[in-house]
Amino acid sequence: MRKIAVANMKGGVGKTTTAIHLAAGLAMRGRKVLLIDTDPQGNIGHALRVRATHTMQEVMMGEAPVEAAIVPGVRAGLDVIASSTSAFSLERRLAGETQRETILARRLRQANGYDAVIIDSSPAMNLLTYNALLYADQVIVPVAMDLMAIIGARQTLNGVAEVRDLWPDRPLELMAVVPTFANTQTVATRAALEALEADAQLSRSLYRTGIRQCIDLNYATSQGQTIWEYAPRSRAAEDYSRFIDFVEAYGSTQETALKAEAVV
Ligand SMILES: Nc1ncnc2c1ncn2[C@@H]1O[C@H](COP(=O)(O)OP(=O)(O)OP(=O)(O)O)[C@@H](O)[C@H]1O
Ligand SMILES: [Mg+2]
Repeated sequence: MRKIAVANMKGGVGKTTTAIHLAAGLAMRGRKVLLIDTDPQGNIGHALRVRATHTMQEVMMGEAPVEAAIVPGVRAGLDVIASSTSAFSLERRLAGETQRETILARRLRQANGYDAVIIDSSPAMNLLTYNALLYADQVIVPVAMDLMAIIGARQTLNGVAEVRDLWPDRPLELMAVVPTFANTQTVATRAALEALEADAQLSRSLYRTGIRQCIDLNYATSQGQTIWEYAPRSRAAEDYSRFIDFVEAYGSTQETALKAEAVV
């Protein structure tokens, strides 16, 4: 089971859009996927029109079992755990808990039978984001084509490094830094791509194909649809399909590598 978190401390860089399309795209290819929203903004629930009786924060507080919070069949092969604004108080409510950064990981042990679990996170390095990073094995960092988003990406990598430092047994890996809102005609995009290339750590994991700017992503969200449902011939549909190819290939390369190691 792959466990992938989508994170960037900067807001509005395409985290939720990427998490939704990664989850929905893998599900369309026959994988069994669980998509979890750890952001109190609850955007995943809105974007996919999910009606949840129990949410992520109840799971974290131990007020509902994981199974009760899973909304099954949001799409074929796609289940969702939604979030809501009541999660804004989680930080305070969990302040006294021991090992509060690993609550989600412990609660999600019961979430089995998936090929992939995708976690969307808040634009902040808060307790919920740490919980997402301490559950995931791999992290994807979307970066919009502006300087602030690159700073946010750097701060996120510092957070990842901190997780590795404090929990050295956690196999958290930076899978991809994904340029979003890309428009190579503009100076802003070219400057942002140059800045990403110039950063040793960010450029090593840079997914150079990127996701182009595409207004259809906004329209799709407002219709409660994925881009493949709303505008299957759009740029964004093409770009996110390519990104799914990359994620799937990355997974199998890893598996192959692991198998090769095991034989040796
Ligand atoms: N490639 C793109 N081109 C054009 N619009 C996009 C693109 N990606 C996302 N958007 C739009 O930009 C807005 C912000 O995207 P999104 O909600 O995914 O960002 P986010 O990083 O999750 O934000 P937050 O930090 O608030 O959670 C949404 O309206 C979304 O539809
Ligand atoms: Mg979001």
